[in-house]
Parts: sequence; C-alpha cells; structure tokens
Amino acid sequence: MKISSTNLLPELPPDTKPLQHQISGHFYGNPKTKFGILQRCSTGVVLKPFINEVRGECEWHFYNDAFSDQAPENFYALRPFLAAPLGIYQYNEINYLVLENIVQKFVHPCIADIKIGRITYDFQASKEDIEKCHRRYPPLNEVGFQLLGWQNYNSRTNLYDYHDKTCGRSLTKEEIIYAIAHFYGAPRSDHRKIVRLVLERLTILEHIMTKQQGLVFICSSLLIVYEGENDNEINLSSEPKFDIRVIDLCKVFKVEQYVDRTGLDDNFLYGLRSYMNYLRRLLDDTFVYVPIDKLNCINQ
Ligand SMILES: Nc1ncnc2c1ncn2[C@@H]1O[C@H](COP(=O)(O)OP(=O)(O)OP(=O)(O)O)[C@@H](O)[C@H]1O
Ligand SMILES: [Mg+2]
Repeated sequence: MKISSTNLLPELPPDTKPLQHQISGHFYGNPKTKFGILQRCSTGVVLKPFINEVRGECEWHFYNDAFSDQAPENFYALRPFLAAPLGIYQYNEINYLVLENIVQKFVHPCIADIKIGRITYDFQASKEDIEKCHRRYPPLNEVGFQLLGWQNYNSRTNLYDYHDKTCGRSLTKEEIIYAIAHFYGAPRSDHRKIVRLVLERLTILEHIMTKQQGLVFICSSLLIVYEGENDNEINLSSEPKFDIRVIDLCKVFKVEQYVDRTGLDDNFLYGLRSYMNYLRRLLDDTFVYVPIDKLNCINQ
C-alpha cells in the first residue's frame, strides 16, 4: 500500500468520514500513517484500512475462517463476540475491511478498548522488539492487559470525557482499579449493575476461549460498550444496554507458528482473567473509590 510522505491527507472514499467514537488505534490523519478507520456515512459500517498489507490480510482471513460454513464448532461460539465481517472495499488501491459497527446502536456510548495479553509481540519479533514492548508498559507482565482508552458520556456537558492510552499506561497495577471503576460510572453512579453484567458475559467468553486450543490471539482487544444516555437509567432500569466484542484480529496465529510455545496459548486467557478479577474487586462491598490525579487528564 502506498503511504503518502507528504502532509496531505489521503482522499476520503465517497460517503465516508473518520470513525465516530473511535477510542484507539490508527486515527484518520495520523501523522505517520495518514490512514485510519472510517465509517460509511449512509450505513455507519466500519472501514478498516489495510495499513500493513500482511496484517490486513491476516485479519481478513481470520474473519473469513470464523464465519465460513466449514468453520470448526468453537468458532461458532465465538461469533457473537466478533463484529460481523461485511466484505472488502477498495478505493484508490487501498483495501478496507468492512465490519459491522458495534457502537452504532447506542445513543451515547461509553466505550473502553482493553488490549488483552501480557505478550504483545508476534513470533517474528526480534529481541529489540520484545524489549520495546516490555518498556512500553512495565506492569503488563503482571497485569496482563492494557487500557488503550475509554470514553464516558457526560450528561452535564453533553460531551464525552476521554482518556487515552498514555493515561492508561501511566497507571500502576494498584491504580488501574480506579480507572476501571471510573469507566463503569464511579463515583457518579453505582457501577455494580453494569459490572455484574459485563462479568457474566466475560465468563462466557472465558469458557469459549478455554475450549479453543489452536489459535493464539496477540494484541486483540475487548471493546466494551454500554449506554450512557441517561445516568439515572443506568441505575434504575432492569437491564442496562451493553455489548462486548473482541476486535483487532490481525495477529491471530496458529499455535504451531510459535517457536517457543510455552504458555503462549494462555496469553489471552491470562489477561482476560486478570481483567475479570479487577471487576470482581469492584463488586466487593469493601471496594471504595479513590479519585486519583492521573484521571483528571480528561479530553473532551
Ligand atoms: N467493529 C467496530 N465497531 C465500532 N468501533 C470499532 C470497530 N472496530 C474498531 N473500532 C474502533 O476502532 C479502534 C481501533 O480498532 P483496531 O484496533 O481494530 O484498529 P487499529 O488499531 O487502527 O488497527 P491495527 O491494530 O490493526 O493496526 C477501537 O478502539 C474502536 O474504538
Ligand atoms: Mg489496534
């Protein structure tokens, strides 16, 4: 794929705009890659450019396999946790993976992107790449996931409070709990109801991932979305609206591809279980929310 070295932005395909409510990843206009995730104006579907052809194709193959009629049974179970693939779109020689927009059905989506796994490098990574990954977020080996960003709807301002990955990675393993609580509404509203639902759903995902043995998910994220339309509604209605999907599947490998396979297939499960343990702590009666300065770096 051709990436412009000038400051000019790539021409947007017709009927598209930069993805609304994008939390992390490549933003359209990104100084390095220029390309970023888009959405169709008329339908809302997501267009994810193949910024790197190999990774783009890898992601496309994964979706194809997962949704094919010949897919093994464990893929069937995983499908409700994936965005539906809607084909490939090409414009100006750039391929875009077309995906269902998970966020579209929400009026005021509160969204978190949580990258799962303590290993974030692939089987071809050099020693330098591995060291770079470790330096990027030292607590990762213990924590097992990274908060790449989250947004909350603020009904007072009618805007979204946004925290990015720099904020997420500035948090120690003790501080992360307050960021997660903050995403689920603390201290403004009772976070427990939505946390309970998310935990139930993640328990299903955990079960599915323990059944699938053949694949290694590197650098995939949980995209967790809940309705922030009305804070009171979150507290009072019986079922808060929410959704959870696994996204960013361009580094899904067959387990045999790894030279050192020890424990690698547990990588996703370790991170998922660690996040679930943080949620369990939020449900504990002894949990007390403590405001921390690092979370004051809100962008709107
Ligand atoms: N199907 C989807 N529906 C709604 N939002 C999405 C969807 N897929 C991705 N997003 C949004 O885009 C962001 C980045 O997604 P993703 O990680 O797949 O792309 P990327 O990081 O730009 O690409 P890559 O990691 O493959 O180089 C997510 O944080 C999320 O906000
Ligand atoms: Mg990504």
